[in-house]
This record gives sequence, C-alpha cells and structure tokens, in this order.
Amino acid sequence: MEAPAVDQARIAQAVEVLKRGGLVAVPTETVYGLAADAANEAAVRAVFAAKGRPADHPVIVHIADASAIDDWARDVPDSARALAAAFWPGPLTLVLKRSPRALDVVTGGQDTVGLRCPSHPWAQALLKAFGGGVAAPSANRFGRISPTSARHVIEDLGLKPGGAVDMVLDGDSCPVGIESTILDLSGPTPRLLRPGAVTREQLESVLGVPIGSTEAGAPRVSGALEKHYAPRTALEVVPVGDVAARVATVAPEPVAVLAPDWAVRSAPNLKLHMLAADRPSDYARALYENLRQLDACGAVRLIVAEPPAGPDWEAVRDRLKRASAGSAT
Ligand code: TXA
Ligand code: MG
Repeated sequence: MEAPAVDQARIAQAVEVLKRGGLVAVPTETVYGLAADAANEAAVRAVFAAKGRPADHPVIVHIADASAIDDWARDVPDSARALAAAFWPGPLTLVLKRSPRALDVVTGGQDTVGLRCPSHPWAQALLKAFGGGVAAPSANRFGRISPTSARHVIEDLGLKPGGAVDMVLDGDSCPVGIESTILDLSGPTPRLLRPGAVTREQLESVLGVPIGSTEAGAPRVSGALEKHYAPRTALEVVPVGDVAARVATVAPEPVAVLAPDWAVRSAPNLKLHMLAADRPSDYARALYENLRQLDACGAVRLIVAEPPAGPDWEAVRDRLKRASAGSAT
C-alpha cells in the first residue's frame, strides 16, 4: 500500500500551523498522531484538551532522526543508540531520562521522555520541515480506538471551527495499524511498556538481554491502563473453535464477529463478519478499522476469535485484551 505522494505545499502550511501553536493531525506508519510543537506548552495543553486526556499523562516527542536524541534526553545509554540505529525510523518509542528541554507538560512531570522517529513519508517530511520536536499522542478522544485514517480523525476530533484540529494531513491508511512498541531504557533494566510491530524478540536480539514487562509501580502510561482502545459495544475474545457456539448463545440478538471464515460457517444471525487475517502484520493493519466497523453496525455484542499464541501476535493480543477489558460476560 503506497501512501499518496507528500504534498510539500501542505507540509509548509502544516509547519505554519505548528509554529503558531496549532494542532495538525499527521499520518505515521502506526496510527495518526495529533501533533503540536513540543516546545510550546500552550500547544501541548491544547492537545490534551482536544483528546480529553488527563494532564498528567506523558506524550511522545517525535524527532526527524536519531541525532536529536540528545536534545531531549540525557544519560543516553548505548543500548538506546543501538536500537535507534536498528529500528529508526520506525515503530519504536524509547523512554529515556529527560533533558531540561523536555517540558513537564510533555513528560507528565516524570523524569523521563518518550522519543520516536517515525518512518511515514508525511511524518518525516513534517518533522524535517519543522525542525523541532513534535509532541503527538494518537489523534483520538482519550480511551477510544486510535485512528488509522484521516477520516477516523475527522470523525473523532473534528476540524475547526466546530472541532479541535486545525489541519489534517491525509496520507491514506497507516501501514502498521497499531501504536508503536514502547521500551523503557531509563532504569537499570529494559522494560517493555507496550508491545508493537517491533517485537520483543527483535529488541532482545539487539540488546543481547531479555526484556521485562511493566509491573505495578511503573511510570504512568495511558496505554497500560487496563481498559483502553475500547469500542462502545461490549467485546469478547473467545477461542476460535467456540465462536459459532458463542454467537448462537447471543442470537437472536444481532452479533458481529472478527474471525476466520471457517469459524463462523455455522453461526446464526451474524450482523457483520469481518475476516481475520492470517498474518499478524495484516491483522494489525486492519484491526482498528475492523473494530470501528463492527462497533458501528448495530450489533449488541462483538465476538473476536482469539489470535494464535506466539511472539509475533503479542501486540495484537495486547490490543484485543484492552478492547475487551470490562466487557466480558
Ligand atoms: O505509534 C505511536 O506511538 C503513536 C504515533 C502517533 O506516534 N503515538 C501514540 O501516542 O500512541 P499515545 O500518547 O496515544 O500513546 C503513547 C503512550 C502513552 O500511553 C503514554 O503514557 C506513553 O506512551 N508515554 C509517553 N511518554 C512516556 C514516558 N516518558 N514514560 C512512560 N510512558 C510514556
Ligand atoms: Mg493513544
């Protein structure tokens, strides 16, 4: 899937918007971000207001290349440079000790900052033309599904004057489809805060050590809240072999499913069936669009066939777990 060619005139306009403290929705390879000048406190506050996000949650600073790491971080370990060399530009966020330049509004008052260098041509063009760091959370209302198309952003946040966003750059749908991997390198041992397209195994192969996961007492990460990325309709994840039977127990009420074809052949009363892809990268790319369509179809319940186990599926399983938290029966 080739993104539309970058329109430099639109990029120049977007830079002007950022410079005057406005908000630009920008496609990245993972999801759309809601971008503001990371050095402008009022602009970053406007991002929080647009999302309805609690003010003490940190946002990622996006940079054009690894040479900007030292602008935002201090005491940068060699491991961070090795990972940046291996995976940037790309879907990996590194949490490092902050430099004085990282504002409290960006870090949520913590002593760390999240840095990411996105590979998407539109995001790259914007960062290069802007020159500074860009604070950008996913461009959705707090707690909702991340946007993977310009349409999602406009539906969720809206354009000014009625909505919250000054400008939306349309770079088509996001090729990765789920948020970046977040690795915390600010402590004595690396910790995976959010699984993503850069897998734990890939990180471990560069680091040469095993990676731990988030546990209690970890820094605030809104992506680590139990319920997040949630559709409005109750969603449950069931073993693939049980999907048809589970649908039958809810029928005649309308049910929508995300499952392989064979799993629903005998299921009655399907309101909508979205096909689950076989490969984790394809599954992730379509996941949020699938969840939006399932959520909007008028079903009383969403049933998702559990994806396979295994390291390549860790990120997808994580997002489904969050989407279903609190709504299991
Ligand atoms: O793929 C992505 O990472 C997208 C695109 C736009 O880059 N961004 C994104 O941002 O998902 P957001 O804010 O929706 O999720 C970033 C997560 C949040 O849960 C935030 O709390 C966490 O990263 N985070 C940011 N800075 C952090 C820090 N210093 N320490 C711990 N967690 C941090
Ligand atoms: Mg988000």
